[in-house]
Amino acid sequence: AQVPVTVTVTGAAGQIGYALLFRIASGQLLGADVPVRLRLLEIPQAVKAAEGTAMELDDCAFPLLDSVDIFDDANQAFEGCNVALLVGARPRAKGMERGDLLEANGGIFKPQGEAINAGAAADVRVLVVGNPANTNALIAQSHAPDVPADRFNAMTRLDHNRALTQLAKKLGVSINDIRKLTIWGNHSATQYPDIFHAEVGGANAAKAVGDQSWIENEFIPTVAKRGAAIIEARGASSAASAANAAIDHVYDWVNGTPEDDWTSAAFPSDGSYGVPEGIISSFPAVSRNGRWEIVRGLDIDAFSRERIDASVQELVEERDTVKQLGLV
Ligand code: NAI
Repeated sequence: AQVPVTVTVTGAAGQIGYALLFRIASGQLLGADVPVRLRLLEIPQAVKAAEGTAMELDDCAFPLLDSVDIFDDANQAFEGCNVALLVGARPRAKGMERGDLLEANGGIFKPQGEAINAGAAADVRVLVVGNPANTNALIAQSHAPDVPADRFNAMTRLDHNRALTQLAKKLGVSINDIRKLTIWGNHSATQYPDIFHAEVGGANAAKAVGDQSWIENEFIPTVAKRGAAIIEARGASSAASAANAAIDHVYDWVNGTPEDDWTSAAFPSDGSYGVPEGIISSFPAVSRNGRWEIVRGLDIDAFSRERIDASVQELVEERDTVKQLGLV
């Protein structure tokens, strides 16, 4: 029998947590033969709700679920953790400036980075979902000096999946026919969903669309503002689709991406494509042997360059703000 993998989920009593935990426990995060030990982290007021979710996890009698433990202390929650899903974050309150939001989240992601550094397993992988995800990941990473920096990722897989479906619908094809789509930059409205390198049935996707105005005025804004459109429609932010994307991200990170395709993931830049080193930006990425590698050598034309630069500039500004606040 395999040794259980310890998965820590923060914000476990939230919306995404509720959509995520059952899928992890059923084996979809790591594989259908990998037992899981869940460690849930919540704030004290939400521990009771997390206990309710844990009761339901019990009631599923998942064969792969080894145990569920609930904590309101980060050091305990990350003890021995192999995979950390940092979902709990501080939402933007009315009238809150970006600096205030980053500062409030620093109060969460700094101690969580420290706790990961102190107690997580040597192979720990961290995916930050809670917004602003890229900069929260940067804060956590900078407080975990003993963990390789590339183990801290932020999630842009939901944006990637959204873009896949928008493009497939436009072309009247199955998502299975589309490859090599990229989300560049920040998980925010400045993100750049790039179909100029994407393929549909082996042909160039942008050429197959053949409509620059659709790309500029419909596709890109629809993907970038999809989160707001979901809130408008549901009265609550994306939860099941966000949980699904987190599963996709970690599954691919651990098990590898398919040959002749790539996905989108945010991790510390090595300076590629003009993204300053250390900035946690989304790239076209393949996973090999448990590590992300940036897809090299793509030609970036002026249209794409401008959009990548704008999103990366936003990330640089967020980094500068958290630096001034002493959070990195
Ligand atoms: P939610 O408000 O339903 O749940 C958040 C949970 O986090 C709450 O139960 C809260 O008690 C908990 N929490 C707050 N501070 C915590 C701390 N210090 N430690 C542990 N738990 C803590 O929110 P929801 O809908 O589950 O979303 C979670 C986050 O994911 C939000 O920041 C949201 O913006 C983000 N998100 C990111 C997406 C992405 O694509 N990267 C997509 C959708 C949401």
